[in-house]
Amino acid sequence: MWGAIRELKIRGAPALGIAAAFGTYLGIKNSPAKTFAEFKQDLDQAIKYLGGSRPTAYNLFWAMERIKGKAEELKSQAVEKIKEALLEEAINIQEEDERLCESIGEKGAEIIQEGNTILTHCNAGGLATSGYGTALAVIFKAKEAGKKIKVYADETRPLLQGARLTAWELQQEGIEVILICDNMAGEVMREGKIDQVIVGADRIAMNGDTANKIGTYSLAVLAKHHQIPFYIAAPSSTFDPNIEDGHAIPIEERAPQEITCWGGRTIAPKKIKVYNPAFDVTPHDLITGIITEVDIIYPPFQKSIHQVIDR
Ligand code: MRU
Repeated sequence: MWGAIRELKIRGAPALGIAAAFGTYLGIKNSPAKTFAEFKQDLDQAIKYLGGSRPTAYNLFWAMERIKGKAEELKSQAVEKIKEALLEEAINIQEEDERLCESIGEKGAEIIQEGNTILTHCNAGGLATSGYGTALAVIFKAKEAGKKIKVYADETRPLLQGARLTAWELQQEGIEVILICDNMAGEVMREGKIDQVIVGADRIAMNGDTANKIGTYSLAVLAKHHQIPFYIAAPSSTFDPNIEDGHAIPIEERAPQEITCWGGRTIAPKKIKVYNPAFDVTPHDLITGIITEVDIIYPPFQKSIHQVIDR
């Protein structure tokens, strides 16, 4: 599971949370522990190991904390019973995610009007969750409600989640989708083609600063310049209550080869220096609203976020 997460075979914040919950179970499934204290050591080791796979998506850490909390709750029971309960909890997390996606989609669909065109980045659809997705759930639900809509999908360099995943998902649902390179977003906005930008999130700080796929911040700046509403769509498990603002969000840096190689071929000079952060942080003052399963929340986020996390 560590390898699957690291190599992006499973990716997208909510899917990472689900994978981490099942991965934690796999880590303790064959534990020979007889007492809770021994079991706890194995559990902590599994959590630490999986936590080293990817640092940015908070859902991954949130899910493992929830599994740990369940184990603590049952500590007076036999170890084999606790193991069974942890598997059940992982299944609960997965099933809940399906419902959360549905709810995010329903709440978010309200902001989309008949004939709107939406710009999205990376992939925040079914391939990033166990259900409908987050940003794409909003689009799917608007379509289900009978609204005729169009989507521009950023290809999302370096790994092309937009071209490979989002464009495919939207096409499967019969939604008109137009694929663009990331550096075309500004021009498309200037031409007046975009009504809203809607993207997912990997971690949201308590002031609303939001980490998402690299390139999201540039889109938010462009949207502000062109006076286009910029929305984040994310479940409550993406909000990190321990982080005040975006500066403290750990940003994953990935291998240079993701930028220097394409289709097995090297496309840049040998020994070239590369900087490859997988995510960036969009400051809260560039965000119009955050669509969650509870409601759409608006600035000041420091206050409105509590509607989502204090439940
Ligand atoms: O590197 P990835 O593909 O895991 O990055 C995914 C994103 O940035 C998504 O936008 C985010 O996780 C939200 S998924 C509902």
